[in-house]
Amino acid sequence: MSQIKTIGLLTSGGDAPGMNAAIRAVTRAAICNGLNVKAIFQGYKGLISGNIVEFKSQNVSNIIQQGGTILKTSNIIQQGGTILKTARCEEFKTEAGRKLAYETLVREEIDALVVIGGDGTLTGARIFASEYNYPIVGLPGTIDNDIYGTDSTIGYDTALNTILDSVDKIRDTASSHERLFFIEVMGRDAGFLALNGAIASGAEAAIIPEISTEVDQLEEFIKQGFRKSKNSSIVLVAESEITGGALHYAERVKNEYPEYDVRVVILGHVQRGGSPSAYDRILASRLGSASIDALLDGQRNVLVGIENDKVVLVPFSKAIKNDKPIDPELIKVLKSLSI
Ligand code: F6P
Repeated sequence: MSQIKTIGLLTSGGDAPGMNAAIRAVTRAAICNGLNVKAIFQGYKGLISGNIVEFKSQNVSNIIQQGGTILKTSNIIQQGGTILKTARCEEFKTEAGRKLAYETLVREEIDALVVIGGDGTLTGARIFASEYNYPIVGLPGTIDNDIYGTDSTIGYDTALNTILDSVDKIRDTASSHERLFFIEVMGRDAGFLALNGAIASGAEAAIIPEISTEVDQLEEFIKQGFRKSKNSSIVLVAESEITGGALHYAERVKNEYPEYDVRVVILGHVQRGGSPSAYDRILASRLGSASIDALLDGQRNVLVGIENDKVVLVPFSKAIKNDKPIDPELIKVLKSLSI
């Protein structure tokens, strides 16, 4: 018999569409199984300070369709006279911070945690779980889709659709003016949004951190497109220190090939907002329910992911240590279809 009577639930890191659907699923699946739910606001910061509210089923009514996270993730850090805001909790990175977090869990009689977030969130969970031998289950919530062990992360599909909506619109003006657009998308250090966004929008190329792209190769590619009577070109660039971002490429192309009329769009945080897609709502609901099943089954320190449309449990050690690879088939598809 499971010893777990009360679970704590938090979201941390960058918000992602579908996090609310996951919060709803975890809460209701837990209640359905006779557990109490304590919602921790402001991520790890709220765990340290004890910003906690008991959740009943009605606390998660009418949120499945909402973007963002009702539990918030941000915290305010004060340094001298300046207030700095960050979504990532620095205090939880310290032993002293994690000790305070543990004390909160003991005080609140929380027996296990479900954390929803990206790589940083899961890394924090892994360290905490091993330091205190504490049961934690993680759900992958990030638009970046960069978590190993799951085919998709909660929020990725919605962000991809937001990108498509914007690129389709930019294509209208790009072809009217015969322009070359560099469109920068998010992804931190991963190229999933850029590559799949490029395939789905019919873009001419994607520049991603996983593969180096020289400007002259890119230019050759674009030139071929123009020669074959294309009247616009769109290149999706993944934000990253490795790619240098869209402005970097645009500047280089402008300098070396002044005949092109180049424009840059940085999509930014618009990609993180909006109502989650059907796919993300279903994914969040399935993974949220499975997180409670996993805890009641005695599972500890695992990520609940999806592989080949089946729910899978991946040890934190594996999910965090490995980089999720880009499928070379996708690169081939983009290349062959953008001629
Ligand atoms: O990890 C999600 C993400 O949106 C990344 O794609 C992006 O690099 C980062 O968060 C932006 O973080 P912030 O909202 O703190 O600027």
